[in-house]
Amino acid sequence: MPRRKIVAALDIGTSKVVALVGEVDTYDQLSIIGLGEAASVGLRRGMIVDIERTSRSVAEAVAAAERMSGISLSSVVVGISGAHIATLNNRGVVAVANPGREIMPEDVVRVLHAAQVINLSSERHILHVLPRQYIVDGCDGIIDPTGMAGSRLEVEALIVTAATTWVRNLHYCLQKAGLHVDGLVLSPLAAAEVVLEPAEKELGTILVDIGGGTTEIAIFDRGGLWFTSVLPMGGDFVTSDLAVGLRLPLVEAERLKRSFVPPAAGNGEAATIEVGTGLHRQEVSQDLLASIIEPRLEEIFQFVQGEIARSGYPALLPGGVVLTGGIAALDGIAELASQFLQLPVRVGYPGGVGGMVDMVRHPSYATAVGLLVHGTRLAVGQVAAAQEAGGAGFLRRFWEWVLDIFREE
Ligand SMILES: Nc1ncnc2c1ncn2[C@@H]1O[C@H](COP(=O)(O)OP(=O)(O)OP(=O)(O)O)[C@@H](O)[C@H]1O
Ligand SMILES: [Mg+2]
Repeated sequence: MPRRKIVAALDIGTSKVVALVGEVDTYDQLSIIGLGEAASVGLRRGMIVDIERTSRSVAEAVAAAERMSGISLSSVVVGISGAHIATLNNRGVVAVANPGREIMPEDVVRVLHAAQVINLSSERHILHVLPRQYIVDGCDGIIDPTGMAGSRLEVEALIVTAATTWVRNLHYCLQKAGLHVDGLVLSPLAAAEVVLEPAEKELGTILVDIGGGTTEIAIFDRGGLWFTSVLPMGGDFVTSDLAVGLRLPLVEAERLKRSFVPPAAGNGEAATIEVGTGLHRQEVSQDLLASIIEPRLEEIFQFVQGEIARSGYPALLPGGVVLTGGIAALDGIAELASQFLQLPVRVGYPGGVGGMVDMVRHPSYATAVGLLVHGTRLAVGQVAAAQEAGGAGFLRRFWEWVLDIFREE
């Protein structure tokens, strides 16, 4: 029997740290075999503010995933996000090695390398080089030029960079938790992997991941990522507004938020929820809840609207919006978002994997499951040229380069 491959993923969010273990069978099919979760205490608005506490949360989540899967983990694929992420567009041009003949994978690797030649300060690191389109002898719109005839090969790529200090902090956290890094993946890129249909990525779709402390936006078109940005605001703001507005402890406010049913959903004006105990017991109507929750969500949608405008995209994104992240589980959020943005909106649940999927069928697991899918690709060395930075061999070299920073320590 060939040895099974094990992959592991880690999503370090503001609310929780999720560790997932997957098994890849001989047909390269991924099954989830372990999940571990821990409350996240060392992050604020998506940024690590306490390395010691973050590493403890990581170790706790990983230990739980190890117990469930019966597998000891030494390395993980990690999601990376936050306000320190930046993107820029660049072009690369090369002469095809055999002019007029077939374009080989090596030519694609060379042109992607050419696209990475940018003036980058030592404070930033390249995370991804995502080809948007290739141009062969002036003919544009090509997704994969391998096998085509031509003499001049160009690429237009989106370069995603991360702050070096952030990557270092992440490294310290993982090191303290006894883990190595298999790869760093931009979180919305991972989430998109498991909540967006290939046709949606092709058509033009906006992925909006609303977590506890951040809202991440990623616009996909023609199969690839075109734009991404992060707002340091998420569901925790809704919770703290409820806590302040209704004078409740945060845990009660959180419970209240999760039991919210939009009044328009037909439960009538009389619908109330009881909160607090003893003298502090109070009845809260769904109308009152809506008057606190909805404006905060609309603030987030306003940002989404602004970012769509800033991305330079016409409002014509036929795929509409796919909402994911924990807040996407809020009752009625898709309707509210759709009304505000005047776009079709659906909630994205992670899918497309086997094993213990029921455990992760919630929008707050989208990033973790997506990271596991990326990890599987790295493990089996199978890479879609349009999605990643070239052929598998190149990807390996690319990761080694990205991960150099981890070895410098
Ligand atoms: N069923 C639910 N209904 C409403 N809100 C929910 C539900 N489940 C989770 N949430 C909210 O989702 C948020 C957490 O989402 P998620 O787990 O995606 O965040 P995270 O990844 O830890 O944080 P971030 O991505 O911002 O760093 C919290 O604000 C939580 O209250
Ligand atoms: Mg998240």
